[in-house]
Amino acid sequence: MGFLQAVRGVSEERAPIWVMRQAGRYLPEYLRVKAKSSFLEMTRTPEIAAEITLQPLRRFPLDAAIIFSDIMTPLEALGIEIEFSPGPSIAHPLRSLAQIEALELRAEIAPFVGDALRIVKAALPPGVGLIGFGGTPLTLAAYLVEGGGSKEYAQFRQFLRSDPAALHLLLEKLTELTIAYLRMQVAAGADAIQLFDSWAGLHDEPTYREFGLPYYKRIMEALADTGAARIFFALGASHLMGAIAEIPCEVVGVDWRTDLTSARELLPGRALQGNLDPAMLYAGREALAAEATRILEAGLGGAHIFNLGHGIWPNTPIDAVAHLVETVHNYKRT
Ligand code: CP3
Repeated sequence: MGFLQAVRGVSEERAPIWVMRQAGRYLPEYLRVKAKSSFLEMTRTPEIAAEITLQPLRRFPLDAAIIFSDIMTPLEALGIEIEFSPGPSIAHPLRSLAQIEALELRAEIAPFVGDALRIVKAALPPGVGLIGFGGTPLTLAAYLVEGGGSKEYAQFRQFLRSDPAALHLLLEKLTELTIAYLRMQVAAGADAIQLFDSWAGLHDEPTYREFGLPYYKRIMEALADTGAARIFFALGASHLMGAIAEIPCEVVGVDWRTDLTSARELLPGRALQGNLDPAMLYAGREALAAEATRILEAGLGGAHIFNLGHGIWPNTPIDAVAHLVETVHNYKRT
């Protein structure tokens, strides 16, 4: 059940599985750590971040670990102040060209993430993959302009239309930051890098092609020589799959609304990752196993890394996760 083989496109007898947001959400052992420290403290203390990363792997035979951090973590290196309550909140939202021009990239980007990766790498059983990650420039910009999470992102979308040149400058700076940050994570031991485009779904295809795609291509190209597998995941992006197919990467993560069979047609030769609806973990054993099996069948015809179609929810029943991992590992693809 090799994650490391599957990300290279090797279609194996068993599908590997990991779970988006598997670290730091629903496990009681995480909640005990969280009761003692703030989110920022947890992410900035390598021993704690490494411990939280490893917690789900002690419970379930998962095929990969994802480092405990956040997509917003590296932004401090641009001089941006962020708090979590629990979602990210920006003290001074970026709403003018002058503010964006003033952002200067510091030499050191979240070095504690590299330290955490090194601790986890040394502790992982052989064959288990280690995943580093970042947010896409366009998703990070959505938070930075809006000032935090939002349903409509009205401020951000107004800014995109009223001052596209300023937004492009911000996206440039975020691209430069992201390339350095992700390369640092590979140097610290990440076998794969996942780029999360959580707010891709806000945009129509022409807008995505102008403000998203060119920057994503640059980031992925800048990782090509690192040896790490590149995973691209966009949420709510069924209408953008044609554009996503142009991104150089080994693996495309698919959300639960996009059928794996149609994704396979659009993405020949690419490994697919996904795509169980996180709500299926509440459906009961039989329905869960039936749906997981349907997804495993839809994933045939190339390499498939089983995952949810988005992050696991905080109150997910733990037994359901165990049952899911077992169902996936028991399924023979050949
Ligand atoms: O497996 C993991 O959970 C690894 C760690 C991880 C976190 N954030 C920790 C976190 C990962 C991979 C992320 C990614 C992330 N963060 C994304 C992309 C994935 C996605 O869900 O679309 C996004 C959009 C964010 C931004 C963010 N950070 C949000 C929306 C929130 C609110 C609460 C939540 O859990 O989603 C956060 C805070 C955050 N990031 C927490 C954790 C454990 C919660 C902190 C707390 O509860 O105090």
